[in-house]
Amino acid sequence: MTDQPTTSTVHRAEELRRLLADYNYQYYVLDEPTVPDSEYDRLFRELQQLENDYPDLRTADSPTRRVGGAAETSFAPVTHRIPMLSLDNAFSDDELRDFDRRVRDRLVYEQDVEYVCEPKLDGLAVSLHYENGILERAATRGDGQTGEDITENIRTIPSVPLRLRGKSVPERVEVRGEVYMPKAGFERLNKTLSAKGEKTFVNPRNAAAGSLRQKKPSVTAKRPLEMCAYSMALEDEADLPSTHWEGLQRVKNWGFRTNPEMRRVTGVEACLDAYHDLLEKRNDLPYEIDGIVFKVNSMELQETLGFVSRAPRWAIAQKFPAQEELTVVEGVEFQVGRTGAITPVARLKPVFVGGVTVSNATLHNMDEIARLDVRIGDTVFVRRAGDVIPQVVKVLIERRPDTAEVVTLPPDCPVCHSDIVQIDGEAVARCSGGLFCPAQRKEAIRHYASRKALDIEGLGDKWIDILVDRELVSTVADLYLLKKSDLTGLERMGDKSADNLIKAIDSARKPVLWKFLYALGIREVGEATAKAIASHFGTLEAISEASEESLQSVPDVGPIVAGHIRSFFEQPHNNETLEALKNAGVEWQSEDVLPAQEQPLKGETWVLTGSLSTMTRDQAKAHLESLGAKVAGSVSAKTSCVVAGESAGSKLAKAEKLNVPVLDEQEFTDLLSEHGIA
Ligand code: IVH
Repeated sequence: MTDQPTTSTVHRAEELRRLLADYNYQYYVLDEPTVPDSEYDRLFRELQQLENDYPDLRTADSPTRRVGGAAETSFAPVTHRIPMLSLDNAFSDDELRDFDRRVRDRLVYEQDVEYVCEPKLDGLAVSLHYENGILERAATRGDGQTGEDITENIRTIPSVPLRLRGKSVPERVEVRGEVYMPKAGFERLNKTLSAKGEKTFVNPRNAAAGSLRQKKPSVTAKRPLEMCAYSMALEDEADLPSTHWEGLQRVKNWGFRTNPEMRRVTGVEACLDAYHDLLEKRNDLPYEIDGIVFKVNSMELQETLGFVSRAPRWAIAQKFPAQEELTVVEGVEFQVGRTGAITPVARLKPVFVGGVTVSNATLHNMDEIARLDVRIGDTVFVRRAGDVIPQVVKVLIERRPDTAEVVTLPPDCPVCHSDIVQIDGEAVARCSGGLFCPAQRKEAIRHYASRKALDIEGLGDKWIDILVDRELVSTVADLYLLKKSDLTGLERMGDKSADNLIKAIDSARKPVLWKFLYALGIREVGEATAKAIASHFGTLEAISEASEESLQSVPDVGPIVAGHIRSFFEQPHNNETLEALKNAGVEWQSEDVLPAQEQPLKGETWVLTGSLSTMTRDQAKAHLESLGAKVAGSVSAKTSCVVAGESAGSKLAKAEKLNVPVLDEQEFTDLLSEHGIA
């Protein structure tokens, strides 16, 4: 369509732009969404369609520009009309007091000075130029004199107004502020990048810088960036606010985000209070800050104070403890978790970071070591943000010594010396001595005694802790050797509870095979898998001797499960524990299995429908499976037979339509008894 738009179309486009700008402002600046996302999307698409039909309707402030066009940005140089200065730093309370004294000396000022305290956001400074309220140009700080044109990328940031709000919009104004990536967005981005095997960002600041420096604005558009304004400059000096605070209010009214933690205080001691309050809050803020900026509030006093070299005399930044430092990896140790997971931990040359001395950092798993390419002897970036455990985030390859050593997974568990296995397709390596390994002891006992396993009533976490810590029990076999006299001496264990616990343990001496198999806590062997394996092999001996291939002939057992089962039974320590269980009088019950040639329904697929009066559906299913049939949920032409109980519905109808044989309950129980199932 190339016709001219009608007046009503022009008005509709204007209305859509205004509505979308309002919704966007409410969502991204005020954090108070007023319409559901679906409504926003609908209006957005409507505007996109109008602009496609009538390209003349496309304006510089159209919200559709936020998605970032196909064109690449050139980052042309931009000279700042007013240089973008840097800030001096104060590293202690006394250095801040010195700053305040210099301010008052220079002003010959006896009273306390009024300051604005602002969180120092850890991102990148940007300068935005608006003409008649429309965003015309955005630039980075660069060297302070000349930056780069990043207008197209800045437009994609939802909290940057494309058009200033409110009635009193100046003809020309420059707004400055910080572009940053909130913590949550940073974590999400790094997760996505590392899942794709790509390089991750060291911190939110680098992530923000990398995202803003994208050649393709459409890539920047997908990055979770925000912008917070912290100053303004007008060309028309007559209109200047008399205080910095007032300037911030104006900026806010034009539709910018300003930082809600900003405060106005009088005197340096109040500044120090603000510093310490903000430092306390630091970890709870949704974005990273690296300090606090103090600015003299009066513009007149700012003018009197002026600048020295490249920093104003009227402002200073008091820094918070750094969250990243460089240190050296002196070694890598392997820890065993309670489920057997092996975690490599870097031993670091102690370094003060994030407010504490750090000498260890988790390396997660071998894939992470490979991704970072970290070696012993490397100099690395260590990051500790908030209460999060310290992380190695980057290796400084250029500082790698010739003697740097590649990290390899040890062949056996550092705690129990069982084999360490890493199943193909899994990032985590594990100790396979689950029944024996001291690191996994409590977890193994807890699982063994749990309700779905051997259901030993009364043996909860609290008792397991006590029994293991007092060295009364070290493997599940020891449970059966406990005597009442071992227990009655324990705190809060009365005569009666001791009796009950001994009785509960005693009643778990003859478990059915599948429960016992499940109770062993072999990785990936849940209840259903344990049942299928138990009924297929019949005895624990057969299972323990089965090859990976024959394990995989059991429905739902794939290579990973088969691998875990094999390595479990290959560990001498696990077998010793099984032997000890036997010696302690535990007898797991074999399941009746028919050899393959005696599985009369082998290769058949049966379907159950309706309710049976003499057995549950699960029992019927187990019987059919024991005769070799597979039990499916729906009827198809391939179904061998349908068992139809009371009030069978559509499945029965379908079976009749497809000429699939149907048995009623009587016929079914007759069939079972023919094969010796009562
Ligand atoms: S004022 C003349 N205010 O800190 C004053 N800067 O080292 C110049 N920054 O490049 C900056 N939050 O990226 C100011 N509330 C804030 C700030 C802030 C972060 C950054 C900014 C600047 C650097 C100065």
